[in-house]
Amino acid sequence: MNASDIASLVRDARSCRRFIEADPIPAELLLQLVDIARLAPSSRNQQALRFLVLSSPADRERIFPFFKWAAALDWAGPQPGERATGYILFLRRVGAQTAHDAGIAAMTIKLAAAAAGYASCIMGGIDRPGLHRVLGLSPETEIDIAVALGRAGEKIVIEPLAPGAPVAYWHDADDVHHVPKLGLADLLHHTGPSR
Ligand SMILES: Cc1cc2nc3c(=O)[nH]c(=O)nc-3n(C[C@H](O)[C@H](O)[C@H](O)COP(=O)(O)O)c2cc1C
Repeated sequence: MNASDIASLVRDARSCRRFIEADPIPAELLLQLVDIARLAPSSRNQQALRFLVLSSPADRERIFPFFKWAAALDWAGPQPGERATGYILFLRRVGAQTAHDAGIAAMTIKLAAAAAGYASCIMGGIDRPGLHRVLGLSPETEIDIAVALGRAGEKIVIEPLAPGAPVAYWHDADDVHHVPKLGLADLLHHTGPSR
């Protein structure tokens, strides 16, 4: 494996929101993804995140309404038949500082899932009180973020983004999802010569 293999993996691992529900992600793979995320870096090596893996059709139906899909789009979200088939919820004890760890674990899961042929979307838009209630979580536990996974059911392409232009992604007339990204030169910070 070399850097361009990693670049391809990152390029392929777009945020997917429409899946092929008829081709569910295996429950064993979801566990394997958590086992991989277990090895990811953690602030002060606290390892404060806990993972709740849900993939049965009944669980999926129960939790789906608590996620907000593609806030930037005027879109009703994934319809029956195109919804995620697995969810990994990141949990922590109330007040634990896990935001960075959660991001790193989520990306680790995303990349490993992409390498296994599955698409995903990191989900921060969650009705947390509602989901907490429906899952019967203890009062000491709170929900950080989640990763929704499944077999990709949509085409996603990266577009160039000019500095200052709108960052919102869009669907075209053929239902292709476009994601604008800034170029390398726009992201590098330069300090001027010292005088
Ligand atoms: C921390 C975080 C939270 C996110 N939450 C949501 C979400 O609640 N719903 C959603 O549809 N997408 C969510 N996304 C996906 C972003 O919208 C997506 O990363 C962005 O549009 C760029 O697309 P890309 O991931 O394909 O590059 C989230 C991404 C991150 C990193």
